[in-house]
Amino acid sequence: MSINYSEKIPNNVDLANDRKLQRALEHWQPRFLTWWQEQGPRDSSSDDVYLRTAVGVDAQGWASYGYVKMPDYRWGIFLADPIADRKIGFGDHYGEPAWQQVPGELRSQFRRIIVTQGDTEPASVEQQHLLGLTCPSLYDLRNLFQVNVEEGRHLWAMVYLLHGYFGRDGREEAEQLLARHSGDRDNPRILGTFNEPISDWLSFFMFTYFTDRDGKFQLKSLAESGFDPLARTCRFMLTEEAHHMFVGETGVGRVVRRTLEVMKELGTDDPAAIRAHGAVDLATIQRYLNFWFTSSLDLFGSEVSSNAASSFASGIKGRPDEDRYEDHVCADATLELETPDGTESVSLRNAMNEVMRDAYIKDCEIGLKRWNMQIKRAGYDIVLRLPSKHFCRSIGAWAGVPVDPEGKLLDQQDYDQRLADWLPSESDRAFVHSLMQRVVEPGKMAGWTAPPDRGINKHPVDYEYVRLH
Ligand SMILES: [Fe+2]
Ligand SMILES: [Fe+2]
Repeated sequence: MSINYSEKIPNNVDLANDRKLQRALEHWQPRFLTWWQEQGPRDSSSDDVYLRTAVGVDAQGWASYGYVKMPDYRWGIFLADPIADRKIGFGDHYGEPAWQQVPGELRSQFRRIIVTQGDTEPASVEQQHLLGLTCPSLYDLRNLFQVNVEEGRHLWAMVYLLHGYFGRDGREEAEQLLARHSGDRDNPRILGTFNEPISDWLSFFMFTYFTDRDGKFQLKSLAESGFDPLARTCRFMLTEEAHHMFVGETGVGRVVRRTLEVMKELGTDDPAAIRAHGAVDLATIQRYLNFWFTSSLDLFGSEVSSNAASSFASGIKGRPDEDRYEDHVCADATLELETPDGTESVSLRNAMNEVMRDAYIKDCEIGLKRWNMQIKRAGYDIVLRLPSKHFCRSIGAWAGVPVDPEGKLLDQQDYDQRLADWLPSESDRAFVHSLMQRVVEPGKMAGWTAPPDRGINKHPVDYEYVRLH
């Protein structure tokens, strides 16, 4: 079904034929817009932003590009096309027809998972609401706004499910999604990482690389869900999500490239000299990477989890790319797990969080390879590394265990003393902040980043991606 844009809420779910749902969502819509005005990108309402908007759900040509004022962005409800006779691909219901309604006994579990996913979407917009004021270029400003409007749309995707399939409870949850705020003392967002402020662009690029990638893996596992509307929603969200990770990968890559240029120019890799020249030394980039990677690892939950086992068994949440596995039931399979007390054999169903985390880590390596290639080509034998997955964890078997980034167990005192080598210190953050200055002349870049290889939608890098007013 194509997307109907003549309605108040663009959609491809035939909203016009479900008046009750349509009314409920039209009632929520102005509240969403108020939230956007209050919590969304600061001082941006009158800017014309060169944005893509979904016009279909085909992989090819699903978006159209043009100048939009963000409050006029057409946030809507778009599900990927249904797969005829889709069957559940994993767990105890393997091979049974996918559900078009939420099974009664799974209602509260599904609701919790949808609310948790939904909560991250507006949270990231809130985390980033001041970033536009210090954009390194118009190109970057446009990308930030593109990510922001699409996270807003992802909130719509989850609110549609809550309104459409969870009755009064769902409507109340949809209200709460606008009431919690990132970093709020009394009513924070649900997950820790989404309460960390993102007030500099290096953090933004790390966030879109590492934390949006966690989002990708959560969406991939929900795209396998037995609840078909959830699976279809997530499949389309993944199409949009790819750009967010592109922003992260190229964003970090450009910072690295600029640093290498400065190192070459100065003929030194001395961090103080590089900083004095207005670029970010590689050691600081590594510390930022350590912080965002470990914080994102916690989002997958504990290594051993009865919750994860029951989500898998009951058909709620599969593994990312479930069809790549041979055994889709995993009733007897086990996994060898490293714990601080040695190797433990646990039931695979109980270890699903770890399976996902490992798949995620593998995916994270891709960008590092590219960044390191640049460093190598520039003639330096410095390597950016993902720290051990046991380093600096706050959740699970390794929470609070003093492990260094190589995975070596240290005594607590030693660990505490060296932590500042591994994670951004106050002075690192203050330095990165000092670099953040708004650059808005088309084609110009801030001194701490290199220009991108190409622009958006075949436009040149110096295109006027945002017309400021
Ligand atoms: Fe999202
Ligand atoms: Fe995203």
